[in-house]
Amino acid sequence: KSYRIAVIPGDGIGKEVVPEGVRVLEAAAARFGFTIEQQWHDFACCDYYARHGAMMPEDWKERIGAPDAIFFGAVGWPATVPDHVSLWGSLIQFRREYDQYVNLRPVRLMPGVPCPLAGREPGSIDFWVVRENTEGEYSSVGGRMFPGTEREVVIQETVMTRHGVDRILAYAFDLAQSRPKKHLTSATKSNGIAITMPYWDERVEAMARKYPDVRWDKQHIDILTAQFVLHPDRFDVVVGSNLFGDILSDLGPACAGTIGIAPSGNINPSGAAPSLFEPVHGSAPDIAGKGIANPVGQIWSAAMMLDHLGEREAAAAILSAIETVLAEPALRTADIKGRADTVTCGKAIADALG
Ligand code: NAI
Ligand code: MG
Repeated sequence: KSYRIAVIPGDGIGKEVVPEGVRVLEAAAARFGFTIEQQWHDFACCDYYARHGAMMPEDWKERIGAPDAIFFGAVGWPATVPDHVSLWGSLIQFRREYDQYVNLRPVRLMPGVPCPLAGREPGSIDFWVVRENTEGEYSSVGGRMFPGTEREVVIQETVMTRHGVDRILAYAFDLAQSRPKKHLTSATKSNGIAITMPYWDERVEAMARKYPDVRWDKQHIDILTAQFVLHPDRFDVVVGSNLFGDILSDLGPACAGTIGIAPSGNINPSGAAPSLFEPVHGSAPDIAGKGIANPVGQIWSAAMMLDHLGEREAAAAILSAIETVLAEPALRTADIKGRADTVTCGKAIADALG
């Protein structure tokens, strides 16, 4: 079997960790008997912006074509391009054009990773955050009146559609149903946000009726963030709107040690358009060019991509290779109290695949 993968390194440490992700993909392909056909793209980065005055060419969709998946590094170089310009000009285009309505992030405490929460053992934190990725609070509906005057008024609307809410909830309930604990937590704020959030709650209740074997609860976002820190062992699948899911999916990995190892999928479950896999972290300008970035977030994203493509065994093998290497200080990077550089860590994971 052969998979066509669009590879987009982007900016900063994206250029350093993506080659390690590709190295491990190739090692997995060799061991499990499939091939990876790579198409590298130099757009969706701030260097491209400097040369062309835009983050991507007009015909980016034609250039990307119809790959089986997109393997993405990170975008952003705030010294030259404002972050909202670089992000809306690249990543958000992909999410919306390809209707990648699920943003999926695992939260798992791995061996060897120092946990900021006291007394936690590897394996005791293991859950998924499912974030709505195409609507909600991140809308472009709104405006500014009387700008720069005392009468200035700024409005931005939240957009929730029945189609959009129901499809993310169905995905989250399906995921909960596939797991041993079969537990789902919904993030809400229906006490304060009195129109959209009660609607979200209503749709959760309606969806829950179709999944009688899934236990579920809802928690307001303020206490839910506290529970992430105090009792991360209580969660299994957590579903949230675009904004709440964004916050929870950074907080979760931080509770489990470091964002340097956290992966994510921007998924279109219908398969009608490619899904995109990328680490949770950004381009890390403060350490870019030094060769010390942790490649594990990128490599774990490669495992999620293979799982999505149906290569379950290869994905599981990459995860256990990651666990082996993280347990070894000489092979892990400095951000998690190790001594290895980016390439040494990446090669060690590829080697551990056998
Ligand atoms: P960041 O994730 O790039 O960095 C935050 C901190 O974590 C920095 O101190 C960095 O050195 C450290 N860090 C991040 N990844 C690491 C790794 N793999 N190994 C070791 N240390 C790591 O977030 P920040 O600083 O807020 O954003 C920098 C740029 O990245 C901005 O332009 C931002 O817009 C962009 N960004 C892009 C994202 C994406 O492409 N999906 C996501 C988040 C930020
Ligand atoms: Mg975020």
